[in-house]
Amino acid sequence: MSSNKKTIVVVGATGAQGGGLLNAILDDSQQQFQPRALTRDAGADKARELAVRGVEVVQAELDDPESLKKAFQGAYGAFCVTNFWEHFSPQKELAQAKNLAEVADDAGLEHVIWSTLEDTRKWVPLSDDRMPTLMDNYKVPHFDAKGEANQEFSDRGVPTTFLLTSFYWDNLIAFGMEPKRGADGTLEFVLAMADKPLSGIASADIGKCALGIFRRGTEFVGRTLGIAGQHLTGEQMAASLSTAFGEPVRYIPIEPDDYRALGFPGAEDLGNMYQFKRDFNDYFCAARSIELSRSLNPELMTFDDWLAKNKDRIPVDKPAA
Ligand SMILES: NC(=O)c1ccc[n+]([C@@H]2O[C@H](COP(=O)([O-])OP(=O)(O)OC[C@H]3O[C@@H](n4cnc5c(N)ncnc54)[C@H](OP(=O)(O)O)[C@@H]3O)[C@@H](O)[C@H]2O)c1
Repeated sequence: MSSNKKTIVVVGATGAQGGGLLNAILDDSQQQFQPRALTRDAGADKARELAVRGVEVVQAELDDPESLKKAFQGAYGAFCVTNFWEHFSPQKELAQAKNLAEVADDAGLEHVIWSTLEDTRKWVPLSDDRMPTLMDNYKVPHFDAKGEANQEFSDRGVPTTFLLTSFYWDNLIAFGMEPKRGADGTLEFVLAMADKPLSGIASADIGKCALGIFRRGTEFVGRTLGIAGQHLTGEQMAASLSTAFGEPVRYIPIEPDDYRALGFPGAEDLGNMYQFKRDFNDYFCAARSIELSRSLNPELMTFDDWLAKNKDRIPVDKPAA
């Protein structure tokens, strides 16, 4: 009976992480939860598709606490995520997370999952010149603000599970990180990770892991859980890509300095991110347990699994005839 289901507010329900959770809840054999999809525009195509699937869609804006209050009313839990890449502002991301924490607290939610990342300044203080300080106050802005925002939830005593996510393999489809043809026509896959493994995950698996956390009641409240599908070196990823495409893909390890200099919006942030993941690799991978991820989500994909489903969506140029 739908009336017995616990309502989970899904922030970012039209996006990768929240969308994954929404699908996981709808497909859940136990049918314990009911999603309430949050969007800024209930009339947009993606939101209308959700409504057609019978999902409750609520219009709200992370910058507007009043709209969030209505969206959170009467809910059991919430999955909270912010989208740095929409505005590139760590201050705005922090303010949005604060709004979410305040509203979750006021609404008396029993369980919040906050999709977070490390505040890298705990490892690389601003005074450390191994990597440049960005925007005056950050090392990896899109990580640091999320990590800083953890306190917004914990200081208010919001019952929160802090979920450390990993690099989405989906970045090869829509984030410009696909292999590109080098001067000799060979596909080249670039990372600034040297020979260190990159923790990766299918973005859809983040939502499935989040459902696994909600299913386990309040077991993980107050804890930080890291998830990943696999930790793979650039060489290993290139080998999988070669098999998937049926042609050689060469791994090109570049220096973080060269990545920062690529010049596209966010290149410096991502260059610092790779440097953090490379230089604190043992910590970073250990913080993201594949075993735990699989226990939360038995369908957890490997990179090869993900490629088998998605290789045709990766926008690589055809080889020259
Ligand atoms: N790419 C990676 O490898 C990776 C890895 C780890 C973490 N992350 C983090 O993931 C976050 C993005 O999550 P995603 O990939 O799931 O996002 P996404 O697919 O780009 O979708 C963004 C979602 O956020 C919602 N949204 C954005 N601004 C909003 C606002 N002001 N008010 C209400 N809703 C808002 C959008 O809803 P509407 O448009 O419907 O309003 C949409 O559902 C980023 O902060 C990034 O740092 C990314």
